[in-house]
Amino acid sequence: MKLTLRVWRQQNAETPGAMATYEVDGISQDMSFLEMLDTLNEELILAGDEPVAFDHDCREGICGACSLVINGDAHGPERTTTCQLHMRSFEDGDTIDIEPWRASAFPVVKDLVVDRSSFDRIIQSGGYISAPTGTAPDAHATPVPKPDAELAFENAECIGCGACVAACPNGSAMLFTAAKVNHLNVLPQGAPERETRVLDMVAQMDEEGFGGCTLTGECATACPKGIPLPSIAAMNKEWLRATRKVRR
Ligand code: FES
Repeated sequence: MKLTLRVWRQQNAETPGAMATYEVDGISQDMSFLEMLDTLNEELILAGDEPVAFDHDCREGICGACSLVINGDAHGPERTTTCQLHMRSFEDGDTIDIEPWRASAFPVVKDLVVDRSSFDRIIQSGGYISAPTGTAPDAHATPVPKPDAELAFENAECIGCGACVAACPNGSAMLFTAAKVNHLNVLPQGAPERETRVLDMVAQMDEEGFGGCTLTGECATACPKGIPLPSIAAMNKEWLRATRKVRR
């Protein structure tokens, strides 16, 4: 395949960026999107130019490091991570726009790399859980109702990639924060800090400058792990419950 790539280039957070156009040839449909970018970078390096900076780590869809807006969609046209997107999703001769996540809480570091440490601070604000550790307990020592276990597992799938924020017209992190709150709050092991966890994480989310949720649902559509929109309602319910129990 021969492709035209329009890639966001930006030297650092202080300098303005712009789209740069590159041609790549000999791209196999079996390549991943990141392997296609590797090919571009090899050509840039051979030509003495600076390669395009982009985030990646596992390339297996599990770490949440990869992050690109491709033709206007977070992670591109398939509901998966960018590293699991393959070039068979595109046609020979296509022009592909490649941009970083766009959100004020995710400032651009360089080219396609953004600073997602705001997510780390939200998780950090949730604090530790005080459930005793040690040897593995018997499987049924702490009964968990099946609907609660399923909700916890569903929310625990969040890999923190930030596609939800990038897809949201408000730049809201409600789906991410909801996933992190819910996967602990619905379990008995997360109960001792149930109220402080949701209050502190929502407060940190607001402090980081993420936008509010207006239930457009773009976040859940873009989420490569399928965290559902009702997770946000579950977190709102937790937050309301906590404000009634904890006076600050
Ligand atoms: S590089 Fe790990 S999820 Fe894409």
